[in-house]
Amino acid sequence: MNVLLAGGAGYIGSHTCVELIEAGHSVIIADNFANSCPEAVRRVEEITGKKIPLYEADVCDSAAVDKIFSENKIDAVIHFAGLKAVGESVEKPLMYYRNNIDSTLTLLEVMKKYRVNNFIFSSSATVYGVPKTVPLVETMPTGSPTNPYGWTKLMMEQILTDTAHANPEMSIVILRYFNPIGAHKSGRIGEDPNGIPNNLMPYITQVAAGRLPCLGVFGDDYPTRDGTGVRDYIHVVDLAKGHVKAIDYSGAHKGVEIVNLGTGTGYSVLEIVKAFEKVNNLTISYEIKPRRAGDVAECYADAGKAERVLGWKAEKNLEDMCYDAWKWQSKNVNGYK
Ligand code: NAD
Ligand code: UFG
Repeated sequence: MNVLLAGGAGYIGSHTCVELIEAGHSVIIADNFANSCPEAVRRVEEITGKKIPLYEADVCDSAAVDKIFSENKIDAVIHFAGLKAVGESVEKPLMYYRNNIDSTLTLLEVMKKYRVNNFIFSSSATVYGVPKTVPLVETMPTGSPTNPYGWTKLMMEQILTDTAHANPEMSIVILRYFNPIGAHKSGRIGEDPNGIPNNLMPYITQVAAGRLPCLGVFGDDYPTRDGTGVRDYIHVVDLAKGHVKAIDYSGAHKGVEIVNLGTGTGYSVLEIVKAFEKVNNLTISYEIKPRRAGDVAECYADAGKAERVLGWKAEKNLEDMCYDAWKWQSKNVNGYK
């Protein structure tokens, strides 16, 4: 298929681009580089040996999106183009609602005009809110997100569900990601957050690289194995392959399907630190800090539906994730800069 990747220059988009091309699909990227840079796309071209049509465009801009559809025959859209920093969304809610919801509406409107019916959406485990039980199953009720970022994901899931119901020709796959980490095995593409990382793995790799002095572990008094928070970390290449399966599935499916993309296994913060140290033969200095507002004790997926419906299952283990994350960071101490 000819797939438009909105936000395709970002962390998950760039890895998905590689996997789609390797599976024989063609891709077009639209990105405004709000949280990425053209160098990431250049490196995807280097890995795949393919030239990728790249539009510097804000996908909230109808005219810009229309131009992309008028110049290309597009079969499916994967929508990664969102702002994703939880803390920033609390400080700038309007920016988050405007960008994340407008981009979705604009893409859907232009798709309708051009009769493009296949849409894959980047949602998040955040829509489950505070889990009452784990593992999280897609049929469980969604919770009340603790921040505007999470609300945008929940609102967009509703918009997409209503859109699919109104147009029986549409196939919408909503992918609820758990915690993507790691990088492509080449070490050429990876996660490159702006400023001080909010997320655990980029913080660890920046401590390992000497860019940051010490990791703060947010709370050691949760009701978990060792008191630190438990998450379902998934290798970004496995996650990217899940999108290839979702694209294949969408070709033969109508309606809306919601699917968790996780491994089904949870690891604590300290287990991640220890695994990273062991695999890479490094020491990470850390100190226990107070809990971070909005964090939950445990969050991991029931990954059964992805296997049943998409025929997808995560294949890489925690060692692969730690090894590849460090390979990327150590070869690119300052990211793409
Ligand atoms: P990212 O910031 O690396 O990628 C998002 C890309 O979208 C960036 O390249 C950014 O420049 C672009 N973008 C943002 N707004 C745009 C707009 N209006 N027009 C065009 N481009 C725009 O983030 P990521 O980690 O690759 O995440 C991709 C998607 O997955 C996001 O929607 C995010 O909310 C979601 N998600 C991510 C995680 C995670 O932990 N990384 C977890 C759950 C869900
Ligand atoms: N943590 C630390 N120190 C840090 C960063 C994180 O101890 O410096 C801990 C957190 O408290 C949590 C775990 O590491 O227990 C993972 O935290 P992340 O920030 O890496 O990930 P979250 O699970 O909090 O959030 C991620 C994405 C969100 C998304 C959510 C659910 O960042 O966008 O997964 O999908 F909503």
